[in-house]
Amino acid sequence: MTYHDALAQLGILHAHPGGEQLTTWWMDRVSLREHARVLDVGCGNGATACLLAQRWDANVTVLDVRRKMIDHALRLASERNLRLRGVVGSAEAMPFQRESFDAIVSESVLVFTKSHRALREYRRVMEESGVVIAVEMMTLGPVTDAWRREVRNLYGAQYVPDLSGWKRLFHDAGFEVKVLRSGSVSSLPLPVNQQDSTLADPKALLDPQIRAVLQRNAQWMDEHGKEMGYGVFELRCRRT
Ligand SMILES: C[S@@+](CC[C@H](N)C(=O)[O-])C[C@H]1O[C@@H](n2cnc3c(N)ncnc32)[C@H](O)[C@@H]1O
Repeated sequence: MTYHDALAQLGILHAHPGGEQLTTWWMDRVSLREHARVLDVGCGNGATACLLAQRWDANVTVLDVRRKMIDHALRLASERNLRLRGVVGSAEAMPFQRESFDAIVSESVLVFTKSHRALREYRRVMEESGVVIAVEMMTLGPVTDAWRREVRNLYGAQYVPDLSGWKRLFHDAGFEVKVLRSGSVSSLPLPVNQQDSTLADPKALLDPQIRAVLQRNAQWMDEHGKEMGYGVFELRCRRT
């Protein structure tokens, strides 16, 4: 059972550093036009997509590589009387035409992908005048190969860059980057999202495999949380 499979089974909302609070924080600082066409890549269980639809009456498409995530997202939207378009697919090869979106939201997704490929896709499917908001994990200092191996085994993260690594990746994909906020993950409030009332399937908490995944996550964060940072990035197309 992988970390993401456990998230999908449980239906945890806002599964990224800082949770809903950090999402609301960046939403208060970014302006989108009403009815904007927004793509929530790696949408997970759709909580941010629902906020986008509520706040801007946005025309939101959710994309995730896991069908279960898309099912949860569409169910959450329908419970809230909102409409989302759900697509199962990979951030690295998105089934969308060029310039299909005015904005892209990507919360804790790129580290699980071949990020240079995914970022090129973000650039392709976004309007020239559009904006990407990315909330991503980063390393805060040098880390060992063993640390990287563990992060890959535990979370399925392909590669976690540091701040300058992210800037380079964004630049190489054709973006200008503004760092809206960054810091240590351990300085953020813990996402309040593992309470029964916010889970799509609270019974899944009884599954020993899922409990083991959550326990490993909590233990790793206890031991290594201080080495893991996060960044909130605003990306715009670089003029050539
Ligand atoms: C840590 S979760 C974050 C979910 C959501 N953005 C949130 O903040 O709650 C990462 C999500 O990215 C999805 N994902 C991982 N690799 C992906 C890929 N290559 N393409 C699209 N989605 C992917 C996972 O299925 C999962 O839903």
